[in-house]
Amino acid sequence: MDQDQKKVRVAEVAASKLSDGIVLGVGTGSTVNKFLEIANLSQFRLKGVVSSSNATTEILRNQNIFAEEPNAFDLIDLYIDGADESTIHGHLIKGGGGALTREKILAQYAREFICIIDDSKLVDVLGAFPLPIEVIPMASSLVAKRMISLGGQPQLREGFITDNGNLILDVYNLKILNPIEMEVVINQIPGVVTAGIFGKRGADKLLIAYADSIKEIGINV
Ligand code: 5RP
Repeated sequence: MDQDQKKVRVAEVAASKLSDGIVLGVGTGSTVNKFLEIANLSQFRLKGVVSSSNATTEILRNQNIFAEEPNAFDLIDLYIDGADESTIHGHLIKGGGGALTREKILAQYAREFICIIDDSKLVDVLGAFPLPIEVIPMASSLVAKRMISLGGQPQLREGFITDNGNLILDVYNLKILNPIEMEVVINQIPGVVTAGIFGKRGADKLLIAYADSIKEIGINV
């Protein structure tokens, strides 16, 4: 089974978690896109849908589903999103698609965050995937210097502007041994909008696609 087929399998299981009457948060990326293809959201009487990116909002619009602002709701009942890397503890690297800030906002709003990945994304230590950091443009050099002093090798994502009008630095060769601490350290650098480490608010549940099965791991915090 290739990675694409695993994404389909895990998306099917995520779709089985949906029910009427909920506010649903929808993440960004190819795994989430499979979920949106499979879930047929209009069959549910959802209380509302919120989106983590313009790209996802557009896909929803093509399905005649209008994404509302998170401010319209007290909370999101269920947030479904992928990740670039995950530990078994639900600590994540996200932002490969550049939507990390809005994704982090939705995760924070969510009562339950289910993260859908395939087994290639499961790691012992975060950081083999270059860490995306959304930065305000005038601070990109400052943030890059600070990331070098933290042991990383930052690279500006060429020709990419986030939905919030900012830049992305992808930081290579960081070994993120303590995701919660590292998230705080990076987020305190002036000009950082957010780091793509989901440490303090990680996933509540991991759905992991293997070649022959889907593993469901609940995270106890
Ligand atoms: C986008 C993300 C995605 O969740 C992450 O990049 C995984 O994407 P994919 O499902 O395409 O592998 O964080 O900002």
